[in-house]
Amino acid sequence: MSRIAYVNGRYVPHRTASVHVEDRGYQFADGVYEVCEVRAGRLIDERRHIDRLERSLKELRIAMPMRRNALGVVLRETVSRNRVRDGIVYLQITRGVARRDHAFPPAGTLPNTVITAKNHDLAKLEQGAGDGIAVISVPDNRWERVDIKSVSLLPNVLAKQAAREAGAKEAWFVDAKGFVTEGASTNAWIVTRDGAVVTKPADAGILRGITRTVVLEVIAEHGLTLEERPFTMDEAYAAREAFITSATQFVTPVVQIDGRPVGNGAPGLIASALRRDYHDHAEIA
Ligand code: PDD
Repeated sequence: MSRIAYVNGRYVPHRTASVHVEDRGYQFADGVYEVCEVRAGRLIDERRHIDRLERSLKELRIAMPMRRNALGVVLRETVSRNRVRDGIVYLQITRGVARRDHAFPPAGTLPNTVITAKNHDLAKLEQGAGDGIAVISVPDNRWERVDIKSVSLLPNVLAKQAAREAGAKEAWFVDAKGFVTEGASTNAWIVTRDGAVVTKPADAGILRGITRTVVLEVIAEHGLTLEERPFTMDEAYAAREAFITSATQFVTPVVQIDGRPVGNGAPGLIASALRRDYHDHAEIA
């Protein structure tokens, strides 16, 4: 089956889908994106993803290209035209096409909207979570506004590649004060020896993950102790458990950090329970 992409009001073959060479996303990374999980053909936490999209656009002063309802229709249509059952839908909005000039383009320049969808291999993801993953640490050399889900991801790209070359699945950014901020494309969590779940507050220095928000609810429901505070790499090395969260990985246990085993080197009980119960708390639309 051939894939279909949505590009500015048209559904076109994915193979040939394109935007202009002077798209500001291409030239300046001047745009934002969202990744929403699709499960059994339905969107997971659509409302929160669109809320975050609107916030990112507002922070960058890019206009929402269509109403929320219309966007919901297009997301679903893209999912259905690509026969996605379990996978993701990807949405990207840039400041549009204009003659190259760093400052904003003339008023009236229309944002460019691209939406794609694809199936993921759920069995492979489950197996990865069953085994647990390895992470490495890298210096956090990103800009301050990582709370905006912008397509400007070069440090994240380099971090993920470093992880891959080290035989790991994810890289954890460590800030100048020695605190773990988040992963290249996931939020970072540990469970202390005392059983407290720890993750950095989402006020600055990280993206407020939608999965993170839902997992906080699951933690409360389970009556677990939560400490929303920064943690160091030494705490991570000494942790009983560690895990990552994102729309593409859900809750995935971390069993190795910088080559050292986490806890007994197997996925932890708390991470596994959070993974099991996460989808019961997510909004399905
Ligand atoms: N990444 N932190 C960063 C830097 C991310 O890029 C992501 C998501 C997250 C987790 O956010 P959420 O739970 O809303 O997916 C945290 C997406 C999946 C990506 O870039 O593919």
